[in-house]
Amino acid sequence: MAKKTSFEVLHEFVEPARNNVTPETWDYLMGGAETETSLNRNRMAIDALALRPRVLRDVEHASASAKFLGHDWRLPVFLAPIGSLQDITKQAGVDPACAAAQFGIAHMLSSACAPGLEAVAAAAGDHPRIFQIYVRGDAGWVDELVARAIGHGYAAICFTVDLDIIGRRERDMVKRYKPTARRAVTGEVHQTRFAWADIERIRANIDVPLILKGIATPEDALRAADLGVDVIYISNHGGRQLDHAQGSTDVLPEIAAALAGRTEIFVDGGYMRGSDIVKAIALGANAVGLGRLQGLAAAAGGLAGSSTAGVTLRCSTASVGLPGKEATRVFALWVALPSSSAASAAIPRRLIAR
Ligand SMILES: Cc1cc2nc3c(=O)[nH]c(=O)nc-3n(C[C@H](O)[C@H](O)[C@H](O)COP(=O)(O)O)c2cc1C
Repeated sequence: MAKKTSFEVLHEFVEPARNNVTPETWDYLMGGAETETSLNRNRMAIDALALRPRVLRDVEHASASAKFLGHDWRLPVFLAPIGSLQDITKQAGVDPACAAAQFGIAHMLSSACAPGLEAVAAAAGDHPRIFQIYVRGDAGWVDELVARAIGHGYAAICFTVDLDIIGRRERDMVKRYKPTARRAVTGEVHQTRFAWADIERIRANIDVPLILKGIATPEDALRAADLGVDVIYISNHGGRQLDHAQGSTDVLPEIAAALAGRTEIFVDGGYMRGSDIVKAIALGANAVGLGRLQGLAAAAGGLAGSSTAGVTLRCSTASVGLPGKEATRVFALWVALPSSSAASAAIPRRLIAR
């Protein structure tokens, strides 16, 4: 099948994405843990909310830009960390990091993603980048990795804390499949031992913003805030870890209320288009992470395409004022591959679930 390079709507690139990766990689990207209840709840929590548009406000100069982590961004959106991206796109972590830099949004590089933090830093340049860590060694190992990341200009450090033990991803298990980064993994026991005392120690040692990814209750959010964590990243790992969890958008309001502005809030889980992002911002998030949407766009570029420099996220904005909010923004996300024309992104749920 000829490679498609122009996409008008998002579901147009779901098909090429699927055709460009193996069935194993497709399930790795799209699947969740066990019954996939958490995965589905992420989306249900977003779909259950309706917007109440207000009219006759001057929106001529409305802007979708955002400030978080001390930086200005074009959108309150970032590319969430994806491990084993090398199974989806040849340049692995380089592609999304460069695309994010080019577009002006944040990118979070996974410690389980090739070609590593140094190569990604070299390729993406000065644009602020975030490094996400799975703990695979003792305190010395952690400190050394954190120092390397900060030394290479990463503007914030994120620890993923919802993966003490990897979830039962049954689509992968039934095929006896492991993505590339998992095949070589060692030292997982250190993640199982990782605890609040480690966060306290790390907080005392570093000056850059500290993010905890995988917080799902107000209790843990407050405990992290008490320790000086800068960003509470609400996530259930895209439904890939604990099954029967709440949807991220369901827990966002109570965590935002408990924190009452003490930290910034990131959230991810099921966000696929601009109106989804508006809902998260209206409920108290500072920024929204994109996981599978990023993977789909990268896959649509094709593993074979050496010209696939990456995914470029573009947006057009409109604005409405929602009750209690001044000019809350409605974003239409536009997703394009480098050689394509501008393409609007709109993805029906039935096309993303499987
Ligand atoms: C293929 C894949 C790999 C992932 N790898 C990581 C990872 O290395 N580190 C991490 O913290 N989260 C990882 N996640 C979770 C994402 O960062 C994010 O929390 C999740 O994908 C958000 O949900 P969404 O895919 O519905 O947007 C991964 C998710 C997917 C789909």
